Amino acid sequence: MQQSNRKSLTVLAPGRMNLIGEHIDYNGGFVLPAAIDKFIKIRFERHQQNHCIIHSDRVKTSEKIDLKQLKASKPAWLNYIKGVVYHLNLRRPNQISGFDAWIESNLPIGAGISSSAALECGIAVGLNELFGLKIPKSELIELCMQAEHEFAGTLCGIMDQFSVMMGQQDHLLQLDCKTNKHRLIPAQFGPWQLILLHSKVQHQLAESAYNDRRRSCEQVLNTIQKSIPKYQYLCEIPIEVLTNFKTKINPQDFKRATFAIEENARTLAVVEHLHHLNFEAIGACMLQSHRGLQHQYEVSCSELDFLVDTACQFEGVLGARMMGGGFGGCSLNLVHKERKKAFIEHMHTQYFLHFNRSLEPIEISISDGVKTIKNG
Ligand code: GLA
Repeated sequence: MQQSNRKSLTVLAPGRMNLIGEHIDYNGGFVLPAAIDKFIKIRFERHQQNHCIIHSDRVKTSEKIDLKQLKASKPAWLNYIKGVVYHLNLRRPNQISGFDAWIESNLPIGAGISSSAALECGIAVGLNELFGLKIPKSELIELCMQAEHEFAGTLCGIMDQFSVMMGQQDHLLQLDCKTNKHRLIPAQFGPWQLILLHSKVQHQLAESAYNDRRRSCEQVLNTIQKSIPKYQYLCEIPIEVLTNFKTKINPQDFKRATFAIEENARTLAVVEHLHHLNFEAIGACMLQSHRGLQHQYEVSCSELDFLVDTACQFEGVLGARMMGGGFGGCSLNLVHKERKKAFIEHMHTQYFLHFNRSLEPIEISISDGVKTIKNG
């Protein structure tokens, strides 16, 4: 058995935001995410028994995982860890012995800022180092995504795991999800600032609705591929080509596919606008993205629509949209720095009046991806 000489270590795994490019990572599109300064911190200690004990400050509990019995079961949050250990084991058999882990977090769960990817990537990077597995980051990213597919049942794309692993302070990642190659773009917003508003709702069935959207996109791609096999991803298909197939595709799938192709074009437009520091145009694209997610892709909800509509009527806001998988979680807002305080107060009041619920403003700055902060 190969052993590193580390007995303990601590990793910091961030959440992520996404400026634009929603639900197109699994369609081979471009996305513009970044790691943020909200983290899960995991301290690992190695031992020789065939189990691990996971202590979590969030759920105030300790759970035992039998390393010989890595199957999905309850509680659901533990499956992210089991899935990663299972896949690390597949790649490097018999190298992971027992360990204990202590998890602390200031990353809200269910906010659409990828607490699950942070947990997966934190565990993957920590164990990779603790046991000297030497698996390259690019493989760890894929492996965490697979773990989420198989152990949590969400057929997610690569965006979350990629941003959590590869994030760079003060930069957005322009990630091409066809090739998994990325380019760094300075996250400069001049006098404007990105603010998240957490709706504090997470509607049921988000997972099955997510998988259902993915299936729609795959069906459209399959239909078109039968006549034009050169297209490997939905986002490669020009909108005019999709339109030619309209009669062969059911209307709901057609609407969803139209969104995906348009969202990809919007993302590339935002890359240009960032280059020219055209913040008004970025704000407009954010709102168009939201309208598409609301009406075409149908992954928004009344709380998020309300937050976006209210924000966009407020003086000093350039644009807003729901962020992440949808059905709850956060809206992302581009707000003038001088209007930040008034904006948050206004949104708070309006949201409470309408839904009798408090929202949670989350101020973010763009940070580095997962890193080891202490070696023992
Ligand atoms: C979730 C998934 C990502 C991505 C987004 C929507 O966060 O994990 O892969 O599809 O939804 O853009």
